[in-house]
Amino acid sequence: MTVLVTGGAGYIGSHVVRLLRQRGDDVVVVDDLSSGVADNIGDTPLVQLDLSRPEAIDALVTLIGEYEVESVIHIAAKKQVGESAQRPAWYYTENVGGMANLLQAMESAEVNKLMFSSSAATYGNPDVPPGSRMSEDVPSAPISPYGETKLVCEWMMRDAAAAWGLRGVGLRYFNVAGAGWPELGDPTKFNLIPIAIGALAEGKQPVIFGNDYPTADGTCIRDYIHVLDLADAHLAALDYLDREDRDYDVFNVGTGTGSSVSEVLTKIGRTTGYDVQPVIGDRRAGDPADLVADVSRIRDALGWTATRDLAAMVDSAWQAWEPTHGAPAVPPS
Ligand code: UFG
Repeated sequence: MTVLVTGGAGYIGSHVVRLLRQRGDDVVVVDDLSSGVADNIGDTPLVQLDLSRPEAIDALVTLIGEYEVESVIHIAAKKQVGESAQRPAWYYTENVGGMANLLQAMESAEVNKLMFSSSAATYGNPDVPPGSRMSEDVPSAPISPYGETKLVCEWMMRDAAAAWGLRGVGLRYFNVAGAGWPELGDPTKFNLIPIAIGALAEGKQPVIFGNDYPTADGTCIRDYIHVLDLADAHLAALDYLDREDRDYDVFNVGTGTGSSVSEVLTKIGRTTGYDVQPVIGDRRAGDPADLVADVSRIRDALGWTATRDLAAMVDSAWQAWEPTHGAPAVPPS
């Protein structure tokens, strides 16, 4: 049995590929290498392909036959919220177009198990009481083109389940962080932990985007999930799809525990040895005050729970810093 992993050479995908291979699954990766790195997947077969191109359907059908693919983990996507607001049509082309081609290829090749990387961005800025956990039953109301494309992809899976028997799981990632292996760290600086470590490594101070939110310390609360726990959830989702009576469902992937921006920065200071004195900046548009997952559904249905805490995420992100970003310019004494 071979698992096709799209986006398998990227930050999250490469962790999924490594765990699948460790447990003995055969894997083939499709990646356009726009952000993925071929070295991340060692000797795993790699097919370089942009899923949103019209020719992707035929190419996928061919490789599904060639590798005897039985299930698909679809991670490949564009994922920057700000960029999606500037280039919405491109996000729809890449994310929704890629999913449309993949589903057409799966239907025609009669592969019916699909795990999809969705996002907590599908919730938008929910009108729920402070401190509540976000359940999958809260109506989706994305506030960015990125979140919209993820929600549309969920609908496409639901519709394919009804139309031709797709068995699908959407995993709604919360705030992914850390590294399972130092060489597989997040190479970008798009999210709080890498942004903050990156600033410190350049001798600057991190900026807190607003400290006047209705939270205990005034800074935004998020549910940070270790990338290795997240990767493990993908394997659990794949196993869940083995049963013939599955159709389509969506699960949050988080820890169920929130951490504030201030708490994250304090942890970074302790781990790295840098003297962290954050600068208080303005609020960033569109940030919800508090977004923490209700993780009961994934625990009950998949038997999966996160096992790693914020300290493990910050520690592993720091261990991965030099291998993925180069030596810090101003190392701590
Ligand atoms: N933040 C700062 N300073 C920074 C960077 C971030 O204070 O320099 C704050 C943000 O305002 C937010 C928190 O840190 O309160 C986390 O911000 P991130 O940009 O790391 O993450 P987001 O919660 O905005 O978004 C992340 C992913 C999205 C995904 C979303 C789902 O980046 O792809 O989680 O909840 F859609």
